Amino acid sequence: MDAIETASPDELRALQLRRLQQTLRHAYANVPLYRRKFDEAGVRPEDCRSLADLAQFPFTTKDDLRETYPYGMFAVPRERIARIHASSGTTGRPTVVGYTQADLDMWADVMARSIRAAGGRPGDRVHVAYGYGLFTGGLGAHYGAERLGCTVVPVSGGMTERQVRLIADFEPDIIMVTPSYMLTIVDEMDRQGIDPRATSLRVGIFGAEPWTEDMRREMEQRLGIDAVDIYGLSEVIGPGVAAEVVETKDGLHVWEDHFYPEIIDPGSGRSLPDGERGELVFTSLTKEAMPIIRYRTRDLSRLLPGTARTMRRMEKVTGRTDDMMIVRGVNVFPTQIEELILRVPGLAPHYQCVLDRPDRLDELTVRVEARTGAADGKALARDLAALVKHNVGVSVRVDVVAPDALERSAGKARRIVDNR
Ligand code: DLL
Repeated sequence: MDAIETASPDELRALQLRRLQQTLRHAYANVPLYRRKFDEAGVRPEDCRSLADLAQFPFTTKDDLRETYPYGMFAVPRERIARIHASSGTTGRPTVVGYTQADLDMWADVMARSIRAAGGRPGDRVHVAYGYGLFTGGLGAHYGAERLGCTVVPVSGGMTERQVRLIADFEPDIIMVTPSYMLTIVDEMDRQGIDPRATSLRVGIFGAEPWTEDMRREMEQRLGIDAVDIYGLSEVIGPGVAAEVVETKDGLHVWEDHFYPEIIDPGSGRSLPDGERGELVFTSLTKEAMPIIRYRTRDLSRLLPGTARTMRRMEKVTGRTDDMMIVRGVNVFPTQIEELILRVPGLAPHYQCVLDRPDRLDELTVRVEARTGAADGKALARDLAALVKHNVGVSVRVDVVAPDALERSAGKARRIVDNR
């Protein structure tokens, strides 16, 4: 383990404050957007004398990154940027992020730490099925696994039949992939007559999208592995901002020596104390190329005290503020639907939430696949609708479709289809 993972809280806080002050100075001196925003808010880097003072500084949003597209957030000369990643940009311009060599090193370190926390050890074989390319998943996992001393199999996402063959032939100990694509791979194993519990896999490190405890149980049972969560976002570094420890599986330890977490009320922007649910906000503490100050992630979670490590934990992300569906005044997240689907034995956790507005009221239809061999679609639909009504408090339509009828993604699943 890295020494800081078990340092005393005082030691950690002192390190964070030193790094935070330096980051604020670096951002103010070298990024015009931060200088303007700090000036407008009437704060200077010197005003940060304690970690609590960070709350006086302005937030950074995805719009700020779009406005400065492509290189305006960089705090070092372009020649010092060793790599660029970017988000897909389904809405508007993509967001671009840059790394110096030192940033790439730090990233590999926190990813190595994450894989180790998940139970990975030097010499393990790691099958990486996160997408390689501008997405941070593939390369982030790749260099972290190398840093830990693992044998990396850089498969990337897609070509599901080949994924299954490579798992059978190369006998990896660990797989790193989105949970939804893992399910697609397991289905393919079933189709090929390969027993998913009999593969060499011991651990799955799943992230890049929300997934529930019920999904964890499903994967652990079907694959006979430990399934652990990993969190991150490109704007902050990529995967490896926070990760679960396999022995405890009680939420994700935030690697707080590099990323300082806060929780805010998404409506008012007010800071909330640890333990309360709200939007996660991150400040980088060591990044050179693109220091990020109070970045609003739109991810909902809460901060809890450390258990297996000194650093605080974040609860599994329940969803993004953008993914909140409001159906007849009730807030619904896809993860709530997922949880309930997994309580109906005949339903498979391949699902989509379809929003329509036939007259003036929003309607939610859950499209969900039956498991192979499940009998009566109508009864399954009735069961799920009743569970949703009882647990979430809304009436939904449920369409049970045939196995394999819904679109599959080799990366993040699209859970919401908005036809309004
Ligand atoms: O998804 C980085 C990543 C790759 C994380 C591989 C984990 C594994 P982005 O494409 O920038 O980066 O998307 C970031 O994905 O704000 C969350 O909404 C969501 N997300 C990431 N990890 C989790 C997770 C990568 N474990 C966005 N649980 C974030 C829930 C997650 N949501």
